[in-house]
Amino acid sequence: MEKVLFNGKIIDRGKASFSFDDRSMYFGDGVYEVIRVYSGHPYKLEMHLQRLQRSADELDIPYSIKEKQSLKKRVSELIDTNELTHDGYVYIQLSRGAAARDHLYERHIEPFIFAFTKEMEKPTAQQEQGIAVYLTEDIRWLRCDIKTVNLLGNVLAKRQAADHDCSEAVQHRGDTVTEGSSSNLFIVKDGQLITHPADNLILNGITRQVVIDLAEKQGLPVSITPFSTDELLEADEAFITSTINEITPITEWRGTKHGMLKIGAVTKQLQAELQADIERTRTGE
Ligand code: PDD
Repeated sequence: MEKVLFNGKIIDRGKASFSFDDRSMYFGDGVYEVIRVYSGHPYKLEMHLQRLQRSADELDIPYSIKEKQSLKKRVSELIDTNELTHDGYVYIQLSRGAAARDHLYERHIEPFIFAFTKEMEKPTAQQEQGIAVYLTEDIRWLRCDIKTVNLLGNVLAKRQAADHDCSEAVQHRGDTVTEGSSSNLFIVKDGQLITHPADNLILNGITRQVVIDLAEKQGLPVSITPFSTDELLEADEAFITSTINEITPITEWRGTKHGMLKIGAVTKQLQAELQADIERTRTGE
């Protein structure tokens, strides 16, 4: 029977019952993380847990370093208990907790945390062949740096993309490209890698950070600067990054602008570098 982490305890999934009054249901009042697991080993767990803590701090949800340490252990236990020995991911959600519905939150509410694991194949075909993406206006709030479960702008953008036979939506605020509905975005122009700064308009993706680091180690010039939808259409290469998609090349733009792209050498080089890093996790390095 599949187990889940439920407020510090590992229990049967069927026995996990949520409070009717959980604030994540009424207000989207909670934060989350998605962590990839390769051959049973969580990838960049510490970075994800640090981001969870930052998200909680930004939302004034009490979550201590001590809890973070025990969560780290529990996540590994959950992976082992569910025998997630192949590839998959762990989803963790931290909600402000349960209280009678009121916009005003009280600070004594007990936060509620749960996690589950899921098996998942690597999206190899997309990574090799590339994807079409749909350009759409970014309608989200101004704190996209917080990984909250309130994802309505993102889910509407993803639906719009799917309705146009695209795998991902690429959002822009006016002329400035921000990020995907569940990924970050990079373009390559004249050998230079360009991505939006990690400010309030995007989520500072863990994969984004890993890719920037790998690129710099390879001596690839990286420019962390906003770019326009026109620059995106004139890019030599483009790709999205995320925990789920790793590095996935973009081969077509649809939506507010149209265009086609080839999968280029920089994208392939970074894909190879990321795979090498993932292999180190697989072997428990
Ligand atoms: N989403 N931007 C947004 C809006 C995202 O939702 C995500 C990830 C990313 C990439 O972040 P990371 O590299 O840390 O996965 C960027 C996850 C996978 C999700 O919501 O399922």
